[in-house]
Amino acid sequence: MGHVPVMKKEVIHYLIWDYSGTYVDCTLGDGMHSKAILKEITPQGGTVIGIDRDSRAISTAKSNLKDYMESIKICKRRFSDLSSELPCGDKGTYHGFLFDLGLNSSRLREPSSGFSYLEDGPLDMRMSPEERITASQLVNSLPEKELADLLYKYSDERHSRKIARAIVRARQSEPIETTFRLRDIIFKVIKGPYRLKSVSRCFQALRISVNNEIEELVDGLSTAFRCMLNGGRLVVISYHSIEDRIVKNFIRDRRLTKNSEAGRFFKILTPKPVQPLSDEVDINPAARSAKLRAAELVVVNGD
Ligand SMILES: C[S@@+](CC[C@H](N)C(=O)[O-])C[C@H]1O[C@@H](n2cnc3c(N)ncnc32)[C@H](O)[C@@H]1O
Repeated sequence: MGHVPVMKKEVIHYLIWDYSGTYVDCTLGDGMHSKAILKEITPQGGTVIGIDRDSRAISTAKSNLKDYMESIKICKRRFSDLSSELPCGDKGTYHGFLFDLGLNSSRLREPSSGFSYLEDGPLDMRMSPEERITASQLVNSLPEKELADLLYKYSDERHSRKIARAIVRARQSEPIETTFRLRDIIFKVIKGPYRLKSVSRCFQALRISVNNEIEELVDGLSTAFRCMLNGGRLVVISYHSIEDRIVKNFIRDRRLTKNSEAGRFFKILTPKPVQPLSDEVDINPAARSAKLRAAELVVVNGD
């Protein structure tokens, strides 16, 4: 089965406000959110720009969106080099930006991608084959303290020091090259019913680091803030607390207050993050941790 788009109805509800507008889907993936957006807006002349860092996602999206090729422009880009693809003047150009963070489910299931501790495969975790460094290179080369800091910073794993020590000890006999080897090294030092949680958190931390996800996200949100026109909508779906905290703070730090003077601001549309209904989670368990935040861009002229 292909990727099932998360909170599709909610995305449409918060994102679309001008049916002839141009919307940027920064996480095109299999193109399923874009397809839903295009279905709504093409009758009125609306268009989409679809972006993804992964060339494999780009080809799947092209095939899934073949009926809409006249209304979508698809580009292989990262959030950090979005601005070169999206020229925008002082007033902004785009009607909305969507970020559906995280991984495409087909990629997560592929053992060769090395994202899942449930499948044995190379410890890779690169979202795109063109990225420089793999998770295996990280765990085999980082000094123990840096490794412990990384695991803690990107997953709040409280056993990070113990795990880093175990990794460094294990790699002295043989490099750590597979997902199951890393999982088993963690299992050796973390016991009890929550040990799978520790494995999951360590995999998350390595993935974030390999793909530079935090810096990418901040760059992407900054481009969206700068390039939206007045009334534009930002919609972000995140899947773990580290991402959600960044999105929440990014929006809150720019919110419109009664003291705001001239400039660009956000009006918060979701004071609390929106979560999927239980019916959706029953059908698509991958949606269970999703949190959607939305904001509207307000330009204050100050005169
Ligand atoms: C959860 S999937 C999106 C699924 C999509 N919404 C759909 O309905 O098919 C996330 C996608 O974002 C892409 N992605 C993640 N970080 C990115 C970045 N920094 N720049 C560009 N694309 C990124 C991934 O390659 C992946 O294809």
